[in-house]
Amino acid sequence: MQICRSKQAIRDCVGQWRHQGRPVALVATMGALHEGHLQLLTRARAWLDERGGGHIVTSIFVNPTQFDQAADLIHYPRDEANDLRLLDQAGCDAAFLPTVDEIYRPGAQSVVEVTGLSKMLIGRLRPGHFRGMTTIVTKLFNIVGPDVAAFGEKDYQQLTIVRQMVADLDMPVEILGVPTVREADGLAMSSRNRRLTPEDRKAATVLNRALDRGQEMVEQGCGLTALRGELRRILQSEPRATIGSIDIRDAQNLSRITRIDRSIVMLLAVRFGDVLLIDQRTACP
Ligand code: PAF
Repeated sequence: MQICRSKQAIRDCVGQWRHQGRPVALVATMGALHEGHLQLLTRARAWLDERGGGHIVTSIFVNPTQFDQAADLIHYPRDEANDLRLLDQAGCDAAFLPTVDEIYRPGAQSVVEVTGLSKMLIGRLRPGHFRGMTTIVTKLFNIVGPDVAAFGEKDYQQLTIVRQMVADLDMPVEILGVPTVREADGLAMSSRNRRLTPEDRKAATVLNRALDRGQEMVEQGCGLTALRGELRRILQSEPRATIGSIDIRDAQNLSRITRIDRSIVMLLAVRFGDVLLIDQRTACP
């Protein structure tokens, strides 16, 4: 696996592959890698193999512009040596690990924002977060020039926003959504899980229990109010959980719904101690 720390180095590396006429996949991460990230690589590899093979670039960059809380940025877990070992084992072809100065030149004034989708849901709780995310994803697309990029469905709003951005701005990259990977007890894998106390780690399984029940109810044809009430009841049954938000939206475009007559997504944000966890599930009546 090649390790590139500058834009020029990754461009040179990808340029050589392009010369061989092979497609390139990008997996964008902020490091602290776990099985959920490795699934993104597996999905990207399958896409490449269906086209006769190609190369995967994984970026590791803790992007300061998408953190609305300084403390969150400082506490974000970093473990470069372990990340590189996992990527190498997973068959990644190049890791791109730029510094903040390499990515953001002084005096930069341009941002990329998906104006509607970025302001709702998590965007309301974390102003500027999605603008930072779409700006860095655009920069990574411009630096690496991938044919395809894989994003986790766990960050459902992020995935929806990236799809919208790519369509709106005619970006020549295919976006793959990859299903959430869960621990054996159902907790969605996340770098944030490392910050949970053992008690909160156990309590956090309530998210998956609520979503399982919600999915069952939707499939049985329940109404919106009943679904919201049941999700709230299950989450409240866990004393260590503080509900941040429970949202039930159109799965396609995250618009509000008044009845469950199409594919919906249940989006949960729940705090355990000072750690905010999110989880989601789509379901069809
Ligand atoms: O999902 C993430 O880890 C980040 O938001 C991303 C896509 C790598 C952009 O910084």
